Amino acid sequence: MESAQRKMIVGGNWKSNGTVQSIKDLVNDVLNKAEFDTERVEVIVAPISIHIASVKALLKENVKVAAQNVSETGNGAFTGEISAEQLKDFDVQWTYIGHSERRNVFGETDAQVANKVAKAQSVGLNAIVCIGEHLEQREAGETNMVLKKMLDAFKDSVKDWSKIVIAYEPVWAIGTGKTASPAIAEETHKYIRSWVKENVSEEVANGMRIQYGGSVTAATAPELISQPNIDGFLVGGASLKAEFKDIITAMNNSESTA
Ligand code: PGA
Repeated sequence: MESAQRKMIVGGNWKSNGTVQSIKDLVNDVLNKAEFDTERVEVIVAPISIHIASVKALLKENVKVAAQNVSETGNGAFTGEISAEQLKDFDVQWTYIGHSERRNVFGETDAQVANKVAKAQSVGLNAIVCIGEHLEQREAGETNMVLKKMLDAFKDSVKDWSKIVIAYEPVWAIGTGKTASPAIAEETHKYIRSWVKENVSEEVANGMRIQYGGSVTAATAPELISQPNIDGFLVGGASLKAEFKDIITAMNNSESTA
């Protein structure tokens, strides 16, 4: 399968940002005005959990809502956690797992990521699983090894690969204004796809959507999305601005999947 057959996918990651009013404005003024072909581009946004209900209610049907995180436990005495079952019950179809900030700020381990993937899979939740290397690791030539370790760690938690999207987010590019060059991102995505081919199957590798994340802007999106192995983006800062609409438009109008 060529990239032409993979539906592009962009996720907005609002992180711990927004007020009731600013989020309402973002949905009405940006997302609900975005025009794109849902056969070509899938758009997902992840508000903080207390905003999920209101965002779902306000959004047009063409944009889906994701949780930023999911519990590695089930329901029960786990104060502060939201389980995969609860997301599913609330008709939230997507969750991010293992975002760089979860791993690096909150100390989430590969084993926890694997548990979260297993929980998501157990209820049929779609998961965007995030992986990425630190700057020192890239400079030491360890990028592929680091990514392999992260991928190996959750591999056995997956029963249905069609419900997995991989987000490649180099830690050095997140929130720094330093987007990976299209060549670096493409080379790394190619490695990730080869890992999927080797460890799962060629068919799954060909269908796997791999997002790039890390300082994506409306200016950097067009060239990145034209790379054959880049199937979309995970967008932080720019997803809180009107610019997010331009990123969606750039994807919708890109030639790589035309
Ligand atoms: P950024 O964040 O676009 O602000 O770099 C990306 C992310 O954290 O997913």
